[in-house]
Amino acid sequence: MAIVYNHTVPTVAQFTDLYRACTLGARRPLDAAAEMMANVNLILSAWDGDLLVGLARAMTDRVQATYLADLAVRESHQKHGIGKQLIRMVQAEAPRATVVLLAAPQAHEYYGRIGFAQHRSCWILRPEMALS
Ligand SMILES: CC(C)(COP(=O)(O)OP(=O)(O)OC[C@H]1O[C@@H](n2cnc3c(N)ncnc32)[C@H](O)[C@@H]1OP(=O)(O)O)[C@@H](O)C(=O)NCCC(=O)NCCS
Repeated sequence: MAIVYNHTVPTVAQFTDLYRACTLGARRPLDAAAEMMANVNLILSAWDGDLLVGLARAMTDRVQATYLADLAVRESHQKHGIGKQLIRMVQAEAPRATVVLLAAPQAHEYYGRIGFAQHRSCWILRPEMALS
């Protein structure tokens, strides 16, 4: 499988098609796909010919932290090292920064398996939560 990796920002149709072709489609507001792509500052994509088969969507300050918002690999192309390669490239874009993410349930075991460390000090404030 000859996969090409680059910074090409997919079209909204390619983006939503990829997310629907893996379990992430059900977990993301795909009607806001254009915003989700426009408001990050790092997109790395993986292509099998003209077919978008993988995507890393991230925000980085290139110094301290890179928040990996999404990692998606088309189901037909999973377990061929595409996810790992996209993460390698995310890290290489900002080598000084720590890569941070919230794992989807389906990927709970994945990140530990490929070398991430779990962090006890992660805190979140969901939109519906108010500060006390
Ligand atoms: C999770 C995901 C990104 C992994 O991408 P991938 O390209 O299939 O994974 P890789 O090929 O890089 O896998 C690297 C290793 O992890 C293993 N692995 C892959 N998916 C795994 C999973 N869900 N759980 C545990 N291990 C997994 C692979 O078998 C491989 O092991 P090996 O090196 O011993 O052969 C992909 O399955 C996916 O898009 N899933 C649906 C969306 C999702 O949950 N994304 C994560 C959001 S946080």
